[in-house]
Amino acid sequence: MKKIFVSPSILTADFARLEQECKSLEKSGADWIHCDVMDGSFVPNLTFGMPVIKSIRRCVVLPLDVHLMIDKPERYVKQFAEAGADLITFHIEATDKVSEALRLIHSCGKKAGLSIKPNTPVGALTPYRGLFDMVLIMSVEPGFGGQEFIPSATDKIRRAKQLFPDTLVEVDGGINVETAKQVIEAGADVIVAGSAIFGAADRAAAITHIRKGK
Ligand code: DX5
Ligand code: ZN
Repeated sequence: MKKIFVSPSILTADFARLEQECKSLEKSGADWIHCDVMDGSFVPNLTFGMPVIKSIRRCVVLPLDVHLMIDKPERYVKQFAEAGADLITFHIEATDKVSEALRLIHSCGKKAGLSIKPNTPVGALTPYRGLFDMVLIMSVEPGFGGQEFIPSATDKIRRAKQLFPDTLVEVDGGINVETAKQVIEAGADVIVAGSAIFGAADRAAAITHIRKGK
C-alpha cells in the first residue's frame, strides 16, 4: 500500500503556544507541518510570514509544507526558502510567472508545489509538467479553515493522478475522516487537515484515522 502523508495545518492552532502546538503534531505522528501564508490580497485573510516559519523551523524537525496564498509569490520564494520551508507551494492564479517561480523554488534547493483553486481546471497545470514536484488541489476556497469540503475536488484529484502519475497530489480544505476516505480512494497522496486535527481530543488518533480514511 502506498504511503499517505498527513500534513496538519496550523491555521487553527493556538498561536500563543505555537511551539507546543507544533511539537504536539510531531509527537502525534504528523508527516509534515502545513503552514498557510495569506496576504489579505490573493485571499481575504491574513496570517503570518517568514519570521513565523523561521521560529517553527527551530522547534520541530518535520518538513515544513508552506502553502503560499499570496500575489506574485516569486517575490518571496527566496526568503521562505531561507526561513526553512522544505516544500513551497503557490497558486497558479496568483502570478503570470508560474514557470519562473517554480524554477526559482528549485534553484533554492526546495521542492515545488503548484496549487489550483476549486474553479480552476486540472488541465491548467499541464503546461508546467516537469516543473513541479506536487500539485495541490484546493477542496475549499482558500482563505479560511473550518469550511465544508467541495465534492468536485474528488474528480479533480483523480484527473490529476491520471495526468501526473509520478507527482504527489495534495488536497487541502474540509478534510475529516469521511472526506479523507473519498480523496484517498481518488488517489490523493498528501492530506492537509486543520480543524479536524486541532479540534480532536486525541490528535494522534485523529491523524491515524485521517491517514487510514476510517
Ligand atoms: C485554507 C487553508 C487550509 C485550511 C485547512 O485556505 O489552505 O490549509 O486551513 O483547514 P480545514 O482542515 O479546517 O479546512
Ligand atoms: Zn493550506
